[in-house]
Parts: sequence; structure tokens; C-alpha cells
Amino acid sequence: MMSPMGGPSGRAAKERFTGRAAAEKYARSLPGTATDRRERRAIARLLAGLPAGARVLDLPCGTGRLLGFLAGLGFATEAADASPHMAARARAGDGAPIVADAFRTPYRDGAFDAVVCNRLLHHLPEARERRAALAELSRICRGPLVVSFFRDFGWDALVFRLRTLLTRRRPRDRIPIRLAALRADAVAAGLRVASVRGARPLVSKQYYASLRREPDATIRSSPG
Ligand SMILES: C[S@@+](CC[C@H](N)C(=O)[O-])C[C@H]1O[C@@H](n2cnc3c(N)ncnc32)[C@H](O)[C@@H]1O
Repeated sequence: MMSPMGGPSGRAAKERFTGRAAAEKYARSLPGTATDRRERRAIARLLAGLPAGARVLDLPCGTGRLLGFLAGLGFATEAADASPHMAARARAGDGAPIVADAFRTPYRDGAFDAVVCNRLLHHLPEARERRAALAELSRICRGPLVVSFFRDFGWDALVFRLRTLLTRRRPRDRIPIRLAALRADAVAAGLRVASVRGARPLVSKQYYASLRREPDATIRSSPG
């Protein structure tokens, strides 16, 4: 049985980013890049329709790359991350970012109008771990749950496959998945895929899905 704090991949994803050095490196890696701009565009499109003032959680927020952008869209933004060093560098629009685990958050059921989960799922190669994280994020979200995932489609994904084949490596992380796999994860978590956007369609493996809770899905309270 999986711990409420995630399984082996979930723990590895946390460990990978937990230290001060990882936070310092991450803070320098993406802000201001074309990738950063494309991701913001995709997220903005999937959040379009949410009213100004909507309560939006960015989890994991990392070093807060998306927080100013989300606040700039008019949302009351909150943030959380498993790494204290990441959270310490992030600045939320409303309230300081907290240290929290995506597999078991401290928030009440339906606390947010939307939740953004950027660049976490591709660190969870096992479906049961993705589903556990999605179920928890769905529990605290009454509107769109916008997640990024690495999709097995397009140039990047082809290069990933060829490299894996040629080097005979068995990657344990950042493995692109099919859209059908994400759909199955969503269903298992009581959600459905409402829409999908590529950050850079046919080139980048970074894709986004807006997930919605199925009307008859029961909200599972956080364990413990
Ligand atoms: C690749 S970074 C993405 C950060 C941010 N979303 C962004 O796009 O800039 C992955 C983040 O996930 C956090 N993380 C890993 N596992 C987590 C978990 N179980 N719960 C919450 N945060 C987690 C890490 O600390 C790290 O900050």
C-alpha cells in the first residue's frame, strides 16, 4: 500500500528538489526563457473564464516562477511546495508560500477555485502515484485543475525514445506518457480531461490538461 506521502517516485521527486542548492539552481533555470513564456500562455488559456479574484493555488510552486504571472491575471494566488528552500524563495500574491505535500495537503475540501500543478506529474512515472496526487489536488479544487505532463507525442518525445533505445538506458523519471494514460489517471481520480494544450505542439513534450471533477465523484477527505 502506498503511503499518504507518495510512493518511491514521489519520494525521489521530493528528494531531488529538496536542498538549498537545487532551489538556487532551479531559480536560475527557467524564468525569462521562451519555455517559461510558452508555459504561461498555455496555463493562461486553460484558466481563461475564471473570474478576477478567484482563489488559485500553485502547487508545487517551486521558487515561485508562476506566482507573479498568476497574480497578474487577477487571481488571489496561494502557493505551496514540498521543499522549504523552494517555498522560501517563492513570493505568493496572498500569503506566504507554505511547505506542503501534493499527496496530502492541509487545505479543506474545495478550498480553491483552481489549482495549477506545473512540472510535477512527469516526475511520477507510476500511474498510482500520479493518481494519488491528482485525487488529493482534486479534493481541494472546485474548478479547473490545470496540470502539466510530458506527452508521448511530437519531436521531443521521439528524441527521448530514440535516445532510450540507443543508450539502452531505463529512465526512471521524465518519461513521456500517452494522452490516453493521462485520461485514465484522471478517471481513476474522479476527474475528466476537459481540454488539452501543448506548450509548443508537435515540438515540446510539455503538454497541459485542464481536469474537472466528475459531477458524481465523491470528495475524498485527506487521510489522517
Ligand atoms: C520541476 S519543479 C517545478 C516548480 C514549479 N511548478 C515551476 O514550474 O517552476 C518541481 C517542484 O516539485 C516539488 N515537489 C516534488 N514533489 C512534491 C510533492 N510531493 N509535493 C509538493 N511539491 C513537490 C519540488 O520541490 C519542486 O519545487
